[in-house]
Amino acid sequence: MNNIMSNHENGIPEDNKPWPELKLPELLLNSGTVRSLHAAIESEWDLLRRSACQTAAGRALWKQAINDPLAELFAGETHLKSIYEKIKKDLLNNAREISGVILAIRTLWFDSKLEAALSSFDGGGAQVVLLGAGMDARSYRLSCLKQSSVFEVDFPEVLDAKATILEAAANSKDKNHHPILTAKSLSRVAADLTEDNWLEKLQISGFEPKKSAVWILEGILYYLSHSHAMKVLKIIAENCNLTDTVLLADFMNKQATTLSSSTFHFYCDWPDQLLPSLGFFDVKLSQIGDPDAHFGLLQDPLNLFNKLRNLPRSIQTHPDDGTPCGRLYLLQASGSPNQTSS
Ligand SMILES: C[S@@+](CC[C@H](N)C(=O)[O-])C[C@H]1O[C@@H](n2cnc3c(N)ncnc32)[C@H](O)[C@@H]1O
Repeated sequence: MNNIMSNHENGIPEDNKPWPELKLPELLLNSGTVRSLHAAIESEWDLLRRSACQTAAGRALWKQAINDPLAELFAGETHLKSIYEKIKKDLLNNAREISGVILAIRTLWFDSKLEAALSSFDGGGAQVVLLGAGMDARSYRLSCLKQSSVFEVDFPEVLDAKATILEAAANSKDKNHHPILTAKSLSRVAADLTEDNWLEKLQISGFEPKKSAVWILEGILYYLSHSHAMKVLKIIAENCNLTDTVLLADFMNKQATTLSSSTFHFYCDWPDQLLPSLGFFDVKLSQIGDPDAHFGLLQDPLNLFNKLRNLPRSIQTHPDDGTPCGRLYLLQASGSPNQTSS
């Protein structure tokens, strides 16, 4: 697990420069293919698909916490600059929370829970499915995947763009960006999660329903409608009737989706009740700032996340200023044929 506390006291790198000036990688600057691809992404893709690059930009800018050398290539210049400017402003204003910190913590939380889940399966080697994989580079950066077949599910154009960037990186002189697969294997599954055939496409790509699996739903459920999100969760729950399963997913509460009601749809205020109702057990809910969702990245004890954690979850607006209590819940849950059939 990449735990910044082991290298840097309280999240500040040893040289006391938490945010070095943004320098675009040579490959991004010099490769016509990668630059024109990102130009096309910006002009042709909708917000939903572009969120893949935006998320990668967050990981690229939080490089003192997340080791993801491919993130800047996947993000592209526009998204890198946009998040960099926000971080710069936050630092100037001595903000209690720096832009992108949720994303950094979320990434590290999924990394650590994935590693723990894989080691909990006898002999390792569980399959790993990333739904709405976007520009996730776990298959190239996590050694815990060395015995796992990984499946990345996303829209075809997102996966095609990812493959093109990886090919450009592999062919470049810049060895820092050469992608080296750390997973046993990687299959890209072009599918729309709102259609009925994505599970079938996953199986055609080699996913074995009877072999243990870890499902990663990171930054995806709230982009779906309520009925589509519930259908996806039910399909995974049904698969638990066949094999031992771990589900890792993040959920927005209702107030969080009001931040952009045109982008975010599905919400759940009590995912720790929803998942057991679908047949999952051992459900654990974490909030940003909890001991397992902190990673030394929240310096100021008065930060917003600590305030939220100290309020009952049923409270919808901050008592101090009446602003919405938007929360991101991080959930881990188990499924098993023995448990779900009982
Ligand atoms: C915010 S990004 C998160 C990407 C990745 N999980 C990560 O954390 O870096 C959301 C991703 O979900 C994908 N997505 C959204 N709706 C989808 C759908 N109906 N079918 C397949 N992928 C979808 C988008 O294309 C995008 O790549």
